[in-house]
Amino acid sequence: MSPEKIYILAIESSCDDTAAAVLENDSVLSNVVATQKIHEEYGGVVPELASRAHQQNIVPVVDTALKQAKITKEQLNAVAFTKGPGLMGSLLVGVSFAKSLSLGLGIPLIDVNHMQGHLLAHFIKNDQEKELEFPFLGVTISGGHTQIVKVTDHFEMEIIGETIDDAIGEAFDKSAKTIGLPYPGGPLIDKYAKLGNPKAFPFSKPNVKGLNFSFSGFKTAVLYFIQRETKENPNFIEENLYDICASIQYTLVNILKDKIRKAVKETGIKTIAIGGGVSANSGIREMLLDCQKRYQWNVFIPKFEYTTDNAAMIGITGYFKYLQKDFADLNVTATARTHF
Ligand code: KG4
Ligand code: ZN
Repeated sequence: MSPEKIYILAIESSCDDTAAAVLENDSVLSNVVATQKIHEEYGGVVPELASRAHQQNIVPVVDTALKQAKITKEQLNAVAFTKGPGLMGSLLVGVSFAKSLSLGLGIPLIDVNHMQGHLLAHFIKNDQEKELEFPFLGVTISGGHTQIVKVTDHFEMEIIGETIDDAIGEAFDKSAKTIGLPYPGGPLIDKYAKLGNPKAFPFSKPNVKGLNFSFSGFKTAVLYFIQRETKENPNFIEENLYDICASIQYTLVNILKDKIRKAVKETGIKTIAIGGGVSANSGIREMLLDCQKRYQWNVFIPKFEYTTDNAAMIGITGYFKYLQKDFADLNVTATARTHF
């Protein structure tokens, strides 16, 4: 007898991406993301505009996800959605939609923590040779979060380090803004960094205790540096763009590397799994692969479509919760700040 097939529709709307996915057990049948372009004009996410865009996008995105998966609503076993953390107005669109669908179809509702989703994305069925095993250190790096998490089981997660101010993605994006690059500047810094000298302009690293991070001082250091240099030479940025980007990236990669090494030393865990939009950064990927060789780490880097915000990661987390019959009731609400 073939094992039971569970179909889960997952919805993610925590920030500025409206996403829906359909999973058959741990396999992704469709993974649709509508990225909201409107925020580019403002140099950052405008919460009010984000929730309005989610409202417009959610029906077509879910529709497309079901069509691409060749699944009808009636075949679904459950609806999973992101409960938080995220922007309240954005989350509410996903929560309300998921509740209505679950009520209308008479199927269970599953609330998912977005951060757990980033980490459990590694368990989506894939063609990689090696499989992620517990325990591991999950490193979530994005525009909204920077955390090191000790993961001992699917839902046994302990945050052992996190940022006390800005997220690493903000450090990329705000430095990029300082040098006149459009939002989100992280991918552009990455692109230009490849052409520059990482040691051209040394920036000091913050001195934060333990496994926590701080990026606000770095952001200010870049701002003062650029103000000083452009006062002397108005063409400083144009003439040194690649070196500036390489130096910014080099510093941020090293801040991350130092803390991961410290976490490995303190926990004795050498398996590292990264997640979040910033894990697309080539400097971070190279650093991790280098540490894998140098210190015998076992590094897991997700496929690109599962690094940035997506609903497949919400679906896989929903699947594990489904197996445990861990369902939400219709009184469930979104929470902007959600802990594990
Ligand atoms: O996970 P994500 O899509 O959304 C949040 O939850 O924030 O991450 C978006 C962040 C942005 O800050 C963006 O600049 C950054 O990820 N990012 C990168 C790269 N690709 C995306 N940062 C550095 N290098 C990249 N290649
Ligand atoms: Zn995220």
